[in-house]
Amino acid sequence: MNYKIAVIPGDGIGPEIVAQAREVLDAAGKKYGFQLDYTELLMGGASIDVYGVPLTDETIEAAKASDAVLMGSIGGDAKTSPWYQLEPSKRPEAGLLKIRKSLNLFANLRPAYLYEELKAACPLRDEIIGDGFDMMIMRELTGGLYFGERRTVEENGVRKAIDTLTYDENEIRRIARRGFEIARKRRKKVTSVDKANVLDSSRLWRAVVEEVAKEYPDVELSHMLVDNCAMQLVRDPAQFDVILTENMFGDILSDEASMVTGSIGMLSSASLNETKFGLYEPSHGSAPDIAGKDIANPIATILSAAMMLRFSLDLDEAADAVERAVKQVLKDGYRTGDIMSEGCTQVGCREMGRLIKERI
Ligand code: NAD
Ligand code: IPM
Ligand code: MN
Repeated sequence: MNYKIAVIPGDGIGPEIVAQAREVLDAAGKKYGFQLDYTELLMGGASIDVYGVPLTDETIEAAKASDAVLMGSIGGDAKTSPWYQLEPSKRPEAGLLKIRKSLNLFANLRPAYLYEELKAACPLRDEIIGDGFDMMIMRELTGGLYFGERRTVEENGVRKAIDTLTYDENEIRRIARRGFEIARKRRKKVTSVDKANVLDSSRLWRAVVEEVAKEYPDVELSHMLVDNCAMQLVRDPAQFDVILTENMFGDILSDEASMVTGSIGMLSSASLNETKFGLYEPSHGSAPDIAGKDIANPIATILSAAMMLRFSLDLDEAADAVERAVKQVLKDGYRTGDIMSEGCTQVGCREMGRLIKERI
């Protein structure tokens, strides 16, 4: 069986980590009898350099025509990169937001799981880590502050900036349903995270999530304020099964959760719409500080590729094999610098990719 995969290597470490994910995918294809036909697309800074804009309509169409999109990361150093001399709507990040919106990728799944083998890389104390944790952060991805009206004005010589946070009940309902559906296949617990003590959008969020919860009587729902959640993530991460939250809160909480898994270099993600189609990318950025040095951790991208096999291509066996290979490489003591600990063997990005591929 052949599948059409759009590949967006992006900027910074993007091309390095995507190359390793492709190697691993191809090894899985060989073993499980499928072939991925890749079309490389430009987005972010790489697209600005060629087309002057971070995402062209042709790229969106090519992505839509594929079975799934595999992405690295986009963006550069805001201080030194010429991309940030452009107006905000033409910068790399605008391309990422545009592709999410154009493909209606409203459901962003970010699994934060502590591998037994990575306990030493987790910054929490042993008694907090206990038997580890396994949570799914369900982040709404096409609404909220990211897509609200924004402008900068000057009033009486005073500069003023305005960003607006809007959600309608339909946007909340569809992500909530996704959250409950996923919880049903896990430990049947949803923690909905909001700021309902202050924000109207959060009060609506809470009300709609309560309504949706009635459709899922087998799933336990609780609510948590976002500031408390940020604290609880490092106090007792094992209490969470599915965290259901809006766009900006999910962005921040998922970076925090990633670190308790050992490193942001471990956190994969899938961005889905109502169909089988999805965009798969690590949760981290383009890491300009380590780009081109062959030291980035490719595991988040490789695990995102496994999610692509599972969710968009129905290749569960191959997805399992990729996840097993990652676990095995960690068991065998290989680490990139970000998850390095005593007694382990430090390897670079390419070598980590090769070692995982070898274990498929
Ligand atoms: P970042 O995630 O790129 O990096 C934060 C820190 O984590 C850096 O020290 C970096 O070296 C480290 N890091 C990240 N990924 C790593 C990996 N795989 N292995 C080892 N270390 C890793 O966040 P930032 O520095 O705030 O942002 C850099 C650029 O990336 C910005 O332009 C930002 O807008 C962009 N960004 C893009 C995405 C995306 O494409 N989805 C996500 C986040 C940030
Ligand atoms: C992410 C990133 C993006 C976001 C940025 C680059 C726009 O941080 O995917 O987590 O905030 O969604
Ligand atoms: Mn982020």
